[in-house]
Amino acid sequence: EHGLEAPSYPWPHNGILSSYDHSSLRRGHQVYQQVCSACHSMSLVAYRDLIGVAYTEDEVKALAAEVEIEDGPNDEGEMYSRPGKPSDHFPKPYANEAAARFANGGAYPPDLSLITKARHNGQNYVFALLTGYRDPPAGVSVREGLHYNPYFPGGAIAMPKMLTDGGVEYEDGTPATESQMAKDVTTFLSWAAEPEMEERKLMGFKLIFVLSLVLVTAGYYKRWKWSPIK
Ligand code: HEM
Repeated sequence: EHGLEAPSYPWPHNGILSSYDHSSLRRGHQVYQQVCSACHSMSLVAYRDLIGVAYTEDEVKALAAEVEIEDGPNDEGEMYSRPGKPSDHFPKPYANEAAARFANGGAYPPDLSLITKARHNGQNYVFALLTGYRDPPAGVSVREGLHYNPYFPGGAIAMPKMLTDGGVEYEDGTPATESQMAKDVTTFLSWAAEPEMEERKLMGFKLIFVLSLVLVTAGYYKRWKWSPIK
């Protein structure tokens, strides 16, 4: 069962040869880190994946070093914590699903690494969901601890409205409106789920180019081969 169908938004990276908007990816990572990562893991993404995508290598080293990573066992068999490295994956906000549910009134904040692929109409759905909090219509009541959102299947979601104007302060000076943050974080989630998209489009372009050379050559060869017979 679906909630209200999300509209098709004109994502700049949707064109057949379009790449991601990398400034938007950088802002989107900032939104994920400052807002969403309090409850949602993105355990398939490593810091180094951001190099050349949203940050320089030095920036990524600094970002990773800000988190404490549980590592071990070491030679003495002990666990220990150390500053993060670019090869570390994003840390998880909760130790396990039970702890996550306990902190969220029984609901589970899903890992966001693949969310735009896992949900019907993925990126449009995520944007519509984030910006879709409304007062419930007359006659509709929502259980304590849930929030009315027509895009969520069932119409009542445990996640409160997370994005309000000015929720983060963008370092590039972009005004952090609700819809700007939703667009940026959704772009970031789309990249996470399909980081190879730009490569894939480029390969497709090269393939068509080479195939068209082959076609021209084959056509010329055919005419040349058959010319004495005609
Ligand atoms: C669910 C995104 C921040 C708690 C979800 C879902 C998405 C999402 C896409 C999935 C809905 C589905 O299953 O179809 C985000 C983004 C965030 C954010 C992009 C940052 C902008 C947070 C925060 C919290 C939170 C900070 C905790 C305070 C939850 C919970 C659910 C959820 C508990 C499960 C809802 C339910 O099953 O009723 N979120 N989220 N989220 N989120 Fe978030």
